[in-house]
Amino acid sequence: MHIAIVYDSIFGNTAQIAKAIASQLEAANTVQLLNVADARSADFAGIDLLIVGSPTRGFRPTPTAAEFVEGLPANIGAGKRGIAFDTRMSLDDIHPAPLRWVVDAGGYAADRIDTMLKHKGFEVSGTPAGFMVRGTEGPLKDGEIERAKSWAAAQVA
Ligand SMILES: Cc1cc2nc3c(=O)[nH]c(=O)nc-3n(C[C@H](O)[C@H](O)[C@H](O)COP(=O)(O)O)c2cc1C
Repeated sequence: MHIAIVYDSIFGNTAQIAKAIASQLEAANTVQLLNVADARSADFAGIDLLIVGSPTRGFRPTPTAAEFVEGLPANIGAGKRGIAFDTRMSLDDIHPAPLRWVVDAGGYAADRIDTMLKHKGFEVSGTPAGFMVRGTEGPLKDGEIERAKSWAAAQVA
């Protein structure tokens, strides 16, 4: 399978997850790992699967990640699969407790990217995933790199 992984990352956590996913998948697939800044000029015509990742900021993907997906040609996803992932704060780390409800109810980047990928014609059959950081800027919580690898393996199994 030819897989492109496109990610945005402000503090480096989403980049680490994207790299872990790439390292998991590249044994059995052709994998292109692209920062979103380099992805605008890339050609996705020949890929089978596009994986897009972004930090969750203000309940949504970064503007750059959203603009990347929105800027893809109409219906480019026809005949291709798309999957989204994000990084986000762990609810346990959010204080005071009522704020947890607000953050969770506000939503996450991966769900919004998933919807955007559907609008571009991608078959979104995988499970969008959120990987946890400590506090607002990271680092990643223990075990999230391994969880990302297992998640990636399950998406293309
Ligand atoms: C301005 C700002 C807004 C954020 N908004 C959210 C949010 O709505 N929900 C959430 O779970 N995490 C939120 N976070 C935490 C980010 O998800 C976290 O910084 C991100 O996972 C780090 O990824 P990166 O290192 O790739 O930039 C926010 C962080 C910042 C700095």
